[in-house]
Amino acid sequence: MSPVDGPGVSNPNLPVDQAVTEGRVPGRREEEIPELHEVDCPAELRERIETLMARYPDRKSASIPALWAVQERYGWCTPEGIRQAAAVMRVTPAYLESVASFYDLLHTEAVGTHRIEVCTNISCWMRGGDELLDAFRAAAAGEDVFVTGFECLGACDIAPMASIDQRYYGPLEVAEAATAIDQLRDGAEVLPAKALAKRGLAGDAPAPGGAATNGGDA
Ligand code: FES
Repeated sequence: MSPVDGPGVSNPNLPVDQAVTEGRVPGRREEEIPELHEVDCPAELRERIETLMARYPDRKSASIPALWAVQERYGWCTPEGIRQAAAVMRVTPAYLESVASFYDLLHTEAVGTHRIEVCTNISCWMRGGDELLDAFRAAAAGEDVFVTGFECLGACDIAPMASIDQRYYGPLEVAEAATAIDQLRDGAEVLPAKALAKRGLAGDAPAPGGAATNGGDA
């Protein structure tokens, strides 16, 4: 834990790293760091970000998980959510916005309640990933669902696959895209037979009447 971080990190008397407050012109202050009393940060979010900051020698290293916490609370990295995180971390909102805009999994504009990433990298592409992405996009039109293509999600053995609300599914048939969207809309369990969390592990005993299971809770 560095002398300037750790518990009480949202103390407004903390020294501020000039690298995140000044632009290319030395001495020119480009943006003020918001004060906590100006942003009305929910206590739960503030405590979570402070806990994250305490894990790193440099509190800026907590930027990505802090933004993830903002996104989980508000659905996306809202300008006000970013200001709240910036006030807790004692960095400028612009600094956190620059981080958020760099990463595909952080959203700087409103997206749907549900998020689907369809892998279109080599293994999935060879097994119809592009067609699967098209099918998800068509099925999600007008729905509260954000669909995007994505590079390898690290589950090539179940190609073609997709991540639906941070859970992996595959191998998927094109027709299952519409089924998954219907289930999301209805609040039903999504494609239980294709959930990676329910796949058997090597050495597992076969489940009664079916494949082995690892007891996942997807
Ligand atoms: S290529 Fe699709 S998960 Fe790796």
